Formats: sequence, structure tokens, C-alpha cells
Amino acid sequence: MAATPLAACDATTATLPDGRVLLSFGGCNYLGLANHPAVAAAVAQAMGRYGMSSSASRETTGNTLAHEALEHELAAFLACERVLLVPDGYTANIAACQAMAGVCSHALLDDKAHVSLRDAARAAGLESLRFTHLDPASLRTRLAEIRPGRAVVLTDGVFTADGALAPLAELLAALGQDDRLIIDDCHGFGVLGPGGRGSPHHAGLRDPRIIVTSSLAKGLGCAGGMVAGPAAEIARAARGTAYFCTTPTAPPMAEGTRASLAILAAEPQRVERLAANAERLQARLHDLGLAAPPRRPATPIAAFTIGTKAQMELVHAGLLAEGIRAPLISYPGGPAEAYFRLTLTAEHSPQHIDFLAAALATQLQRLPAAPHPSPLPSSPHCSSAPAHAQSQGPHPRWHVPSRPQQPGAPTRSELQRGNRRFLAPRPRNLTPKPSPVRSLADFGPSPLPPRSTA
Ligand SMILES: Cc1ncc(COP(=O)(O)O)c(C=O)c1O
Repeated sequence: MAATPLAACDATTATLPDGRVLLSFGGCNYLGLANHPAVAAAVAQAMGRYGMSSSASRETTGNTLAHEALEHELAAFLACERVLLVPDGYTANIAACQAMAGVCSHALLDDKAHVSLRDAARAAGLESLRFTHLDPASLRTRLAEIRPGRAVVLTDGVFTADGALAPLAELLAALGQDDRLIIDDCHGFGVLGPGGRGSPHHAGLRDPRIIVTSSLAKGLGCAGGMVAGPAAEIARAARGTAYFCTTPTAPPMAEGTRASLAILAAEPQRVERLAANAERLQARLHDLGLAAPPRRPATPIAAFTIGTKAQMELVHAGLLAEGIRAPLISYPGGPAEAYFRLTLTAEHSPQHIDFLAAALATQLQRLPAAPHPSPLPSSPHCSSAPAHAQSQGPHPRWHVPSRPQQPGAPTRSELQRGNRRFLAPRPRNLTPKPSPVRSLADFGPSPLPPRSTA
């Protein structure tokens, strides 16, 4: 079932239909650009110029200057030969795999690769095999099995569910000269590497065998997808149906994405703020016994479990009552069937993160021990099920020692006061406005000749 619908949201808050404004740790608007006024202004201006949709494939009548300019600007930012725009990140993976059909015989997928990569390999007719998550040795075994075939290796740069980083340099080192590596960098673009240029830049990789795909809806906060790489590979993607037979991202969105990209290029401090926030959250979760020590670089996705699903639901409800949106989700690739997946943006303040950590600590202390704890799969990002959970009272594992007050850090009550706006319901008139258009006559007389009735 879809999540609770929001009535409004920005980079740090989510407004519920009843008007409650929550401090939000959900979504993938990592740089806060989905709500940037300059991006909104660029979209609005382009709507006047192009309308809402290009309404056709770019190969027939749907191409615009906005699309062409965005492709060039993305290629320059990523320092690659060519970028191809497609409707979204899902389609970008299909377009990239279609470019591999006829070049590669097999798709070798990380076991936790995003579902869209699996679908893409199938859609492109590639025979798919999996290798163990994050394991170059397992990839080497698979490669040996498919020889003399040629492989395209498919992996996320930063894994959607838990923010783990793919060992890109080691994966690339395992490839032969005729193999390829497709990196889905939806959660690395705008997040990692110098100025947010993404996972391959973070790993210092420049190689003609690499093709990068990404959504434009996350780091850049707009909509659309891209395939980036060597000109010859992208030219093949441009002959595939995923690009050729689809309507591209809407021109106003392409203009909005150009504005977003310009902000990203001009303000690398957004990426730095996001990284500092990610490290802070990982450290706080580690203090609470909910995460491994912070990884470097920390990514803005934190996934963890707490005991049983029922216990997690209690914590989730408790956080909600404190004005915090901490998504408890079921989504492929996570540490368990249901898990907390918290995400950050560059717009979160250190106080927001500390407020979340303090609220989590309170909820953990209130948590009664589970009568029959279910063991959880071990994962570097997942707290394991406590063996002593039969006892009554607050769980010892989650007894959070009071930390000495850091110099200059706000106290919990200061945070509470500072975050009052997240705690109090803020009623709003959320009734949708009736449409001003009631009949076709509202549009005025038609400039077209009356249709013949013959
Ligand atoms: C890793 C990954 N790949 C692909 C997609 C699909 O991107 P889009 O939503 O733009 O189709 C997503 C997003 O939801 C994702 O997380």
C-alpha cells in the first residue's frame, strides 16, 4: 500500500493531511534542490515557453533546446563524452542495457542491485546471473563461468536501501577489456565525489568501460533520467527503444534541472553539509547501538532494525507523536523485511539530527522487551536481535547512557523549544480549490473551424 499522502513538504518537513508538520527524515531530496526558489522559477518560466510536455519522442517532434542544453551541461559536469536524457531513472537503466545488447552476452548483477537494474537486464534480453553483494571475488568467479562470453556488470554506486558503497575500483579491476560496468548512481550523484560528481569520481575512476545512469529526481530534485558515458556507447543507447520510443522528461523539468545543476556547481558546500550531516547521524545511531561505527564517507541513508516488527511500529508511532517522520519501510535490499530507512538533506541542521537522536533514545528506553524476539539477519547496518530480550522493562541494549553535554550543543529541552514548530499541529486549510474550469466554454471560443459532422 502507498505511504500516507503528504499535503506539502520541503527539504526538512512533511505536512500531513491533518495539518501536522513533521520534521522529516524521508525522501531523496539530498541537496534540498527540489524546493529551491531558483529551480521553481526556471520551471515556471519554461512552462510559459514550452507548455507542460514535449508530447513526443525527441527523435520525431519532441526535442527542445532545453533537452539539448541539459545534456551538454551534464556531460561537462560529469566530465564524460556524452549524456542521453530519458524519461526517468528506471528507463535510464533499460536504455543503458539496450546499448549492451549485441555487445555483451551476460548481465552480472550485484545481489542487491536496484530492482530497475534487474528489470533492465531482462528487458534488454541479456542472460542474467548474480554475484554476492559487494563482493569482487564472487564477481570474478561469475566472470570465469561465462567466458568466453562478455559481461556487463550492474551495480548501484550507493545502494538504495542502506547507503552501502559499491567497491567500484575492485569491480572494475575484475573486468576484462571487452566487459562493461553500468553504475546506477541515483544515490551517489550530487552526494559523493568532488562537488557531488558521483560514485565513480569518488572512487577516482575514469574508464571507457564505465556507463553511469541516474535519476534526476533525487540529488538534483527534479525529474528525468540520464545515461552518461563514452560517445559510442551512448549512441547505441540512443538507437534503443527506451530512448527512441518514449517522451522525454518534460521541458520545464529539463530547465529546472539545468537550474539545479548550476546551483550544485556553484555551491559545493551543499554536498559538504550533506556529508557532515550523514556523519553526524551515523555517529548518533552508533551511540544508540543501532549502527556500526560511521563509514567514510558516510552516505545520507541510514537503515537499521530494532527488535521485532511490533517493536519497530511502537518506536515509529512514538517518533511520530514527537513530531518526527522516520520512515519504517518494506523495500527490497534492506537489512530485514521491515526496517527504518532514514535519509538526510543538506538542509537539515545538526540540531535536527540531535533532536532525532534524543527522540530515538527516549523511544528505545520506553520500549518493553519483546516477549518472543525474532532474530534478524546480520548486516553491518543492522542491529542484531538481543539474546536477553525475555526480561521485562527497558531493554538493556537500548539503555542509552546520558552523554556528557558537548560544549555549545543544545540541550534536549532547548531542542524541544527550538523545534516547537515540529511538535505543534499547524492547522491549514487543505481543502483543494475547485477548478476554475467547469466546461469547455470557459476556454472561450475555439480558434479552430467547427468539426464537420458529415
Ligand atoms: C537505485 C535506483 N535506481 C533507479 C531508480 C528509478 O529512478 P526514477 O524514480 O527516476 O525512475 C531509483 C528510484 O527510485 C533508485 O533508487
